[in-house]
Amino acid sequence: MELNDIINQRKSIRKYKDQDVSKQLIDEMIHCATLAETWKNSQTPRYHVIQSKELLKQFKAQCLPEFNQKNVENAPVLIVSTFVKDRAGYQRNGSPDNELNNGWGIYDTGLHNQNLILKATELGLGTLVMGIRNERSIRKLLEIPANEMIVSVIAVGYSDIDPQRPPRKTVEEITHYY
Ligand SMILES: Cc1cc2nc3c(=O)[nH]c(=O)nc-3n(C[C@H](O)[C@H](O)[C@H](O)COP(=O)(O)O)c2cc1C
Repeated sequence: MELNDIINQRKSIRKYKDQDVSKQLIDEMIHCATLAETWKNSQTPRYHVIQSKELLKQFKAQCLPEFNQKNVENAPVLIVSTFVKDRAGYQRNGSPDNELNNGWGIYDTGLHNQNLILKATELGLGTLVMGIRNERSIRKLLEIPANEMIVSVIAVGYSDIDPQRPPRKTVEEITHYY
């Protein structure tokens, strides 16, 4: 598939088929994520993949608000996206390179995640990025170490819907040429 087609095809999916996704496909997606650019090649993003039926049930109930639980009701995979903090955007002595501090870690994670999401799209999978999630419950349930900042939860599965894309701003509206 052409890159333009993949970009056009990607939409947030809020209804999934009750159909498993193989570990091989998830590994392919995460491999594509590892090819993304990162601050000084610091490669701080991490993934915590939930596939077990029992843990999925527990995670959805404890870590997502009701509306997101509904959005990902049948989703067979949830990927918690984190990054190792205080590295991207920081010097070896621990001082920040500039005012964005751990914003660079979040920036790298977003780039990484988008590679994963576009690869999922190419593989015929739907995704939903969720920023509305309970950080403390996720950390506790998955025992995520204190040096990792939790960013998003990404649902992955076979789409059971073909949603309309919400409207976008135009190039002119968001761009300044000098
Ligand atoms: C950082 C981030 C957080 C988001 N959090 C949620 C969320 O918690 N629940 C949800 O239903 N959609 C969430 N979305 C999806 C956006 O609502 C969606 O990307 C946007 O409306 C554009 O639609 P599209 O993805 O179909 O192009 C999130 C997207 C991003 C990038």
